Amino acid sequence: MKLVLIGAPAAGKGTQAARLVEHYGIAHISTGDMLREEVAKGTELGNQAKSIMAAGGLVSDELIIAIVQERIKKDDCAKGFILDGFPRTVVQAEKLEDMVKLDHVVYISAPDEVMLERLTARESCPKCGATYNKLFLPAKVAGVCDKCGEALTQRKDDTVEAGKARIATFHEQSEPLVDFYKKKGILFEVDGTQAIDEITKAIIAGLDK
Ligand code: AP5
Ligand code: MG
Repeated sequence: MKLVLIGAPAAGKGTQAARLVEHYGIAHISTGDMLREEVAKGTELGNQAKSIMAAGGLVSDELIIAIVQERIKKDDCAKGFILDGFPRTVVQAEKLEDMVKLDHVVYISAPDEVMLERLTARESCPKCGATYNKLFLPAKVAGVCDKCGEALTQRKDDTVEAGKARIATFHEQSEPLVDFYKKKGILFEVDGTQAIDEITKAIIAGLDK
């Protein structure tokens, strides 16, 4: 299965992708996670992306398309994959059309204020990538990853200011993808304000229909 998850910042793409890859046994490709790894390693790409990400903008289409093109060739993608955070512009979506035939596009929708509240309360594990939320999904021991015991950190772009900029970028540059995929008849929308488990159930029911 080849799947795209669309949703504004903190809509729950990463949270749902982690559950769906378990369920379907396919690969999880998060362009945000890949870029954060490059930033952490201090590579040339990471250095280029760092300030753009911190300000809530988008890295260039050319750069991100090249990354995805290479990533989907890897062995773990043979059975399928979930693209989380790509495409994010119509240019990226058009390029993706040339690369693969998508089965479904899931749009996780939620109002801006819900996303802003979630993102400023998010905590992430820098070691295993698990995501928590101080308000909605707290770690068992505050500040410590349940899965691997690492100290949790906050993303640099999870401030109110950067969060608002990211949400605005979504509306300007990524929301047109909803119509793009609706017209292709492969879009399935799910209400992202529900509880995490309910959203997972709704997505699986929609995909298995
Ligand atoms: P990326 O990492 O993809 O960030 P994003 O799109 O802003 O999305 P998030 O990861 O913040 O949110 P999410 O939807 O995954 O939510 P999550 O599940 O974590 O990209 C970062 C940056 O990289 C971009 O800004 C851009 O600069 C660059 N970039 C990446 N891809 C690019 C591309 N294709 N082109 C150009 N640039 C690109 O959930 C959020 C929080 O809410 C968590 O704490 C979670 O526990 C909680 N939560 C989740 N679901 C629920 C729920 N139902 N109820 C209550 N709490 C919930
Ligand atoms: Mg994410």
